[in-house]
Amino acid sequence: PDQPPAGCPQQTPPKAQGPELFTWEFATDPYPAYAWLRENSPVHRTTLPSGIEAWLVTRYADARQALADQRLSKNPAHHDESAHAKGKTGIPGERKAELMTHLLNIDPPDHTRLRRLVSKAFTPRRVAEFAPRVQELTDGLIDDFAGRGEADLIHEFAFPLPIYAICDLLGVPREDQDDFRDWAGMMIRHGGGPRGGVARSVKKMRGYLADLIHRKRLAPGDDLISGLIRASDRGEHLTENEAAAMAFILLFAGFETTVNLIGNGMYALLTHPEQRARLQKALAEGDMGLLETGVEELLRFDGPVELATWRFATEALTVGGQRIAAGDPVLVVLAAADRDPERFERPDTLDLSRTDNQHLGYGHGIHYCLGAPLARLEAQAALATLLRRLPDLRLASDPADLRWRGGLIMRGLRTLPVEFTTA
Ligand code: HEM
Repeated sequence: PDQPPAGCPQQTPPKAQGPELFTWEFATDPYPAYAWLRENSPVHRTTLPSGIEAWLVTRYADARQALADQRLSKNPAHHDESAHAKGKTGIPGERKAELMTHLLNIDPPDHTRLRRLVSKAFTPRRVAEFAPRVQELTDGLIDDFAGRGEADLIHEFAFPLPIYAICDLLGVPREDQDDFRDWAGMMIRHGGGPRGGVARSVKKMRGYLADLIHRKRLAPGDDLISGLIRASDRGEHLTENEAAAMAFILLFAGFETTVNLIGNGMYALLTHPEQRARLQKALAEGDMGLLETGVEELLRFDGPVELATWRFATEALTVGGQRIAAGDPVLVVLAAADRDPERFERPDTLDLSRTDNQHLGYGHGIHYCLGAPLARLEAQAALATLLRRLPDLRLASDPADLRWRGGLIMRGLRTLPVEFTTA
């Protein structure tokens, strides 16, 4: 009589563990999993594919608070050493010491000093003056495929644009920029960690930058590297090593992010025809307002930064009601926070005219993206020029056949095949 009826489980099923993360399905569309986490386990303990245990913060209010909480350090030295002792790999804590002095790995007061110095050279004015060059680069890349009627917008457009733009801005001579393109390509194809070919590319890039900085010190120009060398604050300058690390992080932080903002953004426009038509109409009428709000909305709706916002608890603390131990890694999931219905009306709807849109796509607090003005400039030029010059641009693939990179750090398409009528 105490036998359960046939078909009933003998035991209480284990407590729901939540959706499977880090699968191909997740890489293709992580948003259902993020919704589940926000709802059921907003500060979620998970094991990353590298074996590292980390907390995922997915609600907007918690994410914003965590990004601004100084007890959560960017310095990987605060990570629980035991994970390293067990030989687990794949987090910034294992980066080489000489890469450690950049903005995304340090806390105040060093961060404050370096950020103040770089802000003197990388000014909004410098970016604004760069607009004509970005337009020229954008048009040049489109010229190369406009007569063909088809293209892969990732490889032929979204990928080269940011790398040439940042090289120009830094002052890397044109004849060396294709080397940068190759090194960056290696880094993007083989993921975040400095292993194998990636390690070699990072090494070559650093060697090149150190040499370039040395040359710019002897013969300064009007470029950002010369500006970094010149920048001084209260009698302080960047050391040669700091300047090299700064140039490296500007390249590294500003490259794949922008590739994917352009790629994800164009994909979202191509799969939301009314929104795209609205934008095309506004652009034809010379109304740039919708382009500006639209690029912010594309970043909120499907931003490039997935799990790249590492923090390490310097002491025990509580986030969203969850106790976190000293040394624990915390990942603020910006893409999940930016779809939080508690903060955004109809969060899963793409609305290019959304104005109440304080998204976290560029982060928040002292590490707020230094390159946001440049990213906006590039994305606005890229999307507007594509729509203007190739007005009947359409996907040349079933969206279901498109492959997303499953790198966890960045969310972006591997390819974006399109067709259009040639002019
Ligand atoms: C920081 C996103 C483009 C340079 C950040 C952070 C985010 C972000 C989320 C904060 C990370 C954290 O708090 O852990 C993006 C997105 C971009 C973009 C979505 C493009 C769509 C750029 C560009 C550059 C750049 C073009 C430079 C050329 C930086 C730097 C930091 C940073 C230097 C570190 C700032 C600091 O720690 O003080 N970015 N970024 N980013 N970004 Fe960007």
